[in-house]
Amino acid sequence: MTTTQIDSTIHNQTNHNEVTFDKVLNSRRSVRKYDSSVAISEEEIREILETATKAPSSSNMQPWRFLVVTDPELKQKLLPIAFNQQQVAEASAIIIILGDLEMYSLSDKIYGASVEAGYMTEEVAANFIANSTKMYSTLPAERLKEIVVFDTGLVAMQLMLAARAKGYDTVPMGGYNRDQVKELFNISDRYLPTLMLPIGKAAAVGHPTTRLPIDNIAFFNKL
Ligand SMILES: Cc1cc2nc3c(=O)[nH]c(=O)nc-3n(C[C@H](O)[C@H](O)[C@H](O)COP(=O)(O)O)c2cc1C
Repeated sequence: MTTTQIDSTIHNQTNHNEVTFDKVLNSRRSVRKYDSSVAISEEEIREILETATKAPSSSNMQPWRFLVVTDPELKQKLLPIAFNQQQVAEASAIIIILGDLEMYSLSDKIYGASVEAGYMTEEVAANFIANSTKMYSTLPAERLKEIVVFDTGLVAMQLMLAARAKGYDTVPMGGYNRDQVKELFNISDRYLPTLMLPIGKAAAVGHPTTRLPIDNIAFFNKL
């Protein structure tokens, strides 16, 4: 194959991927009615999470944690906590996304894996571990929370798209009582519940929504 042919193959693959990605993006809607007879296997949820967690995060600290609820009894218990939003009882699984406010305590694992993969030397990793632990553990609580909430938002979006790519639907939910979720699952203050994400097979399509025109929201070179 000549260089031009290789370039052209890569170009075509890129175009093909763009079309697929576009389809995934444009077909995602918040779905609030689910076929409750459908089960998603733990394996499939793990695959979706694997893809979603390719998301970037501050210093690659990956502060996201996922509490996956598939037990029908627990889903029923979540119903009043989520102000009786029916999707919580009907979706195949409810993924509660938590932010770990002590995510830096896993930095040795994160950077250790980079050493093992040959991406950095032990010396560089030791520096990263020391610096990130010092920095994140001494941040003002509000700033730390901001970082953790921001990063969990990034993973949540990827999760919704990864699920859509596999033919599943989701609805991001902020409408639930965080304290009651913490109480139900005995979650300590180390973890901050951010989004609740029902996932399953749609029983009815999500209603269409509009977006602001780009002219209203994008500003080039000056605001
Ligand atoms: C942070 C956040 C919280 C939300 N909370 C709820 C919720 O509690 N219940 C619900 O039905 N939809 C909720 N939504 C979904 C929005 O209503 C929906 O994303 C928006 O109307 C756009 O529609 P689309 O997702 O179909 O594009 C939430 C969305 C976000 C991003």
